[in-house]
Amino acid sequence: MTQTDKDRVVIFDTTLRDGEQSPGATMTHDEKLEIAELLDDMGVDIIEAGFPIASEGDFRAVSEIAKRSKSAVICGLARAQLPDIDRCWEAVRHAKQPRIHTFIGTSPLHRAIPNLTQDEMAERIEQTVTHARNLCDNVQWSPMDATRTEWDYLCRVVEIAIKAGATTINIPDTVGYTAPVESADLIRRLIETVPGGDEVIFATHCHNDLGMATANALAAVQGGARQIECTINGLGERAGNTALEEVVMALRVRNDIMPYHTGVDTKKIMHISRRVATVSGFAVQFNKAIVGKNAFAHESGIHQDGMLKNAETFEIMRPEDVGLAGTSLPLGKHSGRAALRAKLRELGTEVGDNQLKDIFVRFKDLADRKKEVFDDDILALVTATTEGDDALQLVNLSVVCGTGGPAQATLEMEINGEDMSAVSEGDGPVDASFKAIRMLHPNKARLQLYQVNAVTEGTDAQATVSVRLEEDGMIATGQSADTDTVVASAKAYIHALNRLIVRRGKTGKDVKEISYRDVT
Ligand code: KIV
Ligand code: ZN
Repeated sequence: MTQTDKDRVVIFDTTLRDGEQSPGATMTHDEKLEIAELLDDMGVDIIEAGFPIASEGDFRAVSEIAKRSKSAVICGLARAQLPDIDRCWEAVRHAKQPRIHTFIGTSPLHRAIPNLTQDEMAERIEQTVTHARNLCDNVQWSPMDATRTEWDYLCRVVEIAIKAGATTINIPDTVGYTAPVESADLIRRLIETVPGGDEVIFATHCHNDLGMATANALAAVQGGARQIECTINGLGERAGNTALEEVVMALRVRNDIMPYHTGVDTKKIMHISRRVATVSGFAVQFNKAIVGKNAFAHESGIHQDGMLKNAETFEIMRPEDVGLAGTSLPLGKHSGRAALRAKLRELGTEVGDNQLKDIFVRFKDLADRKKEVFDDDILALVTATTEGDDALQLVNLSVVCGTGGPAQATLEMEINGEDMSAVSEGDGPVDASFKAIRMLHPNKARLQLYQVNAVTEGTDAQATVSVRLEEDGMIATGQSADTDTVVASAKAYIHALNRLIVRRGKTGKDVKEISYRDVT
C-alpha cells in the first residue's frame, strides 16, 4: 500500500514530562539534555521537555533543550493559567519549532477541584488558549480526564479550544479507564461532530492502569487520531503511559491492518530504552514487549531448533530492527581497548578517552572474574563509570556473614577527600553495609526502593542494584553494578546519597513544587 501524508502518525514523546513525573524517576539536568538529544536523533516529532512553571530546574531544562533542538518540535506544559503559559513560552520560544501545551481537567471530578462551573471553565479555556495562541503558532490543548468527561461538555470545550486557535487537540485517558473500542469511537465521533474537528490534529494520550494504554492509542489512530503521546519504556505515573517502542513497532509489524507510518528510526530504540532505564532508575521488566531482556531471548543463547532453521518461526521482528546486534561476540580477558571501543559503538555508546580508560580498567577486572563478558555487562560498566567527582566514594568494603549471627560490615569511605572507616552489624550483609555508610554520613533519607537484577546469566553474573531514597520530599535514585551484590548495593546507596547531596545544594529548588494535578 502506498503511504500518503494522511497515514503519517506523529510521535509526541513525553518521557521528560509525564515520564519524569513518576515518583522517583527524577533526572538530572544533563540526563534530560542527553535523553532529549537521543529522542531528536531517533526522529521523534515532538518532545515534551517539561513543565516550566513547576520548578527552576524544569524551566532551565526546557529552555536548554529548546536551544539545542534540531528537527523536533519542543513543547512545554502549562496549566490553564496565564503566568504558566507565559513561563512556558519563555522556555520553549528558543526552539526552532516551539509548542505550548495547555490543559485543564474537564470531567466532573476534575472540575470540582478548582470549583468551576461548566460555563466558568469554558470561559477559562477560551481565555487561556487565546493567550497561548497569541504567543505561539503551535498550540496544543488537552481536556484532562477527557474519557470521563460528559460527551456534550467535551464537544463544547473542544470546539471552544479550536476556535481559540488550538492546532492540536489531545484527548487524554488520564486514569487509564478507557478500552480500545471506546477509544477509537471517541476520536471518530469528535472529528465528525465538533465544528472544525477535521481541521486540527487529534492526539491520544493513554495511561496504563488497566494495561491497555498501547492498545487504546492504536485504536485511537484507527479512529482518526494522528498524534500518539508516549514515553520510552512506558515510563509514567502509576502504571505508566503508552510505550513509544510498542506503538512504533506495532505500526511497523502490523502495517497490513494498521497502514500508518512514523518517522522513528527503530534501530535506536534499544539504546534509548537502556539509557532511560539507567537515568530514571526504573529497570525494564524482563518480559516487557520489544525492550525487555527476554523479548528476543532465543537470540541470546536458547538455540531452538525452529529458530535455527527459520528465524521467523518465533520472531515477528528481527532483533536488529530495534538495535540489538544480531550475533554478538562476547568480549573476553584478552580483548583490547580498541575492541572495547568498537563494542561500545556497536551498543550505541560513544565515550571520551578518559571514560574509556576507566571502563577498560573495570572491564579487565570483570573479565578476570567472569567467564564471558556480555553486552549487558559492558553497558552496566558504562553506568558504573558515570559516577564522577562525588563527595562520597567507596574505598573498601568487607563483610562477614553467614548462618551464625548478625552480619558485620567493615567499610572505608572517602568523604570530601578524607578517609574514614566504620564497622557495623546488621540484619544481613546489605543492612550492615548501609548502616556503616549511615555511620560515616549520617542522614535522614528513607529507603523507598531496593532492587537487585542479574545483568547476565550464571552465578558469576554482575548484579545491578537500584536504590531510591527520599528526604524531605526530595527523591534521588542510585545505580551500580558489580559481580558482588553487596558491593553493588553499597555503591548504589552511595550513588543515591551523592545525588541527594547535589540536590540539597540546590536548596530544594529542583524539587517539583507544583504538580500538574494542582489545577486552580
Ligand atoms: O494524563 C494526562 O491527562 C496528562 C495531561 C497533562 C495531558 O498528562
Ligand atoms: Zn498523562
